[in-house]
Amino acid sequence: MNEKHGFARAHTNIALLKYWGKINSDLILPANDSISLTLDKFYTDTEVTFSDEYTSNLFYLNHQLIDVKKMQRINRVLEAVKSEFGYQGFAKIESENHVPTAAGLASSASGMAALAGAAVSALGSHTDLTNLSRLARLGSGSASRSVFGGIVHWHRGYDHQSSFAEQIVSEDQIDLNMVTIVIDRRQKKVKSTLGMQHTASTSPFYPAWVEATNQAIPEMISAVQNNDFTKIGELAEHSAAMMHATTLSSKPAFTYFAPETIQAIKLVEQLRESGIECYYTIDAGPNVKVLCQSKNITRVKRFFASYFDQDQLVVAKPGSGIKFTKN
Ligand code: DP6
Repeated sequence: MNEKHGFARAHTNIALLKYWGKINSDLILPANDSISLTLDKFYTDTEVTFSDEYTSNLFYLNHQLIDVKKMQRINRVLEAVKSEFGYQGFAKIESENHVPTAAGLASSASGMAALAGAAVSALGSHTDLTNLSRLARLGSGSASRSVFGGIVHWHRGYDHQSSFAEQIVSEDQIDLNMVTIVIDRRQKKVKSTLGMQHTASTSPFYPAWVEATNQAIPEMISAVQNNDFTKIGELAEHSAAMMHATTLSSKPAFTYFAPETIQAIKLVEQLRESGIECYYTIDAGPNVKVLCQSKNITRVKRFFASYFDQDQLVVAKPGSGIKFTKN
C-alpha cells in the first residue's frame, strides 16, 4: 500500500475589515479586499492520508464520519491540490477543531486552511504559503487568511492566481486582543455564504459597501503598521456596522443580531465612554467580539462579567500562522 501523510494546524481569524460578497463563487473571488487578525486560542488540527487503495474521500470531524453531501468544498480543495501535484488517489481526512465549546466561533477558516496545508504537505512541499493561501481560499474565503499569523491582508484579485492573502504585521508586533461575548452557541441560521450572496444581489447599499471597504484598506494597513489601536478599532467597528447595514437593506431584509447583540454593542460604547478604550466587531452571527489592548483585557472581562456569565466570555490574543507539526 502506497500511503502519503501530511499534517497541519491552522488558527482561525477575525476580520477587521470584512469580506462580504463574491464576484466568482466557484473560485471564491471576493468583491473587496479584507484584513484580519489571526487568533491564538482557536485552531484546527488536520491529518490527511492519501492512498491508492481508497475508493473515495472520507472525512472525520472530531472523530465522526461526515456525510458525503457535506464534502463539496473539501473535495474541491483536495482536487485542486491533487491536480497541482499530479496525484490520482483518494484521501482520508481526520480533523479536530480546538475551539472552546463555549466560543461560538466559526471554524471554516481554520478548517479549510488546515486541510489545504495537510494535503499539500502530504503530496509535496508546503513552503509556498502564498499558493497555500490560494488553495485554502477554494474551501472558504476567510481560510485564505488563516495561513498567516498576526494581521493579514487578502488581496481580492481577479483570478485564481491573483487572489491570495499575505501577512502585514506579525503576531508579536501587534497589541490587539479579542474578548468574545458568546450570545448564542448554535450554528448560525443564515450561513455566511448564503447571507453574503443574498446581500450582494439585493441590497442597494452593496456597491457602496464594496467601495468603502476597498477605500479603508490602505488606512487599516497604516493603522496596524503603526500599532494605532484607536484607528484600528474605529475602522473595524465601522466595517462591522456597514456589513450589517447591508443585510438590513437586502430584500427580504434580515439580520444576524439578537437582542443581546444590541445590548452588548451599547455596553461597548458605555465602557469606551468611561475611558476604557474598546471597539466591537460582529461576524455572520449574534456574538459580539470586543477588541482591546493587553493592558485592558482584565478590565474589559470584568465589566462584561457583570452582564453575562463567565463562560460566555472568551479571550483570544494574536495567533501564529500555519504549522506542519503538532508542537
Ligand atoms: C462575516 O469565509 O465563511 O466572517 O467564502 O462562502 O466560505 P465562504 O464564506 P466565509 O465568510 C466569512 C464572512 C465573515 C467576514 C470575514 O471573515 O471576512
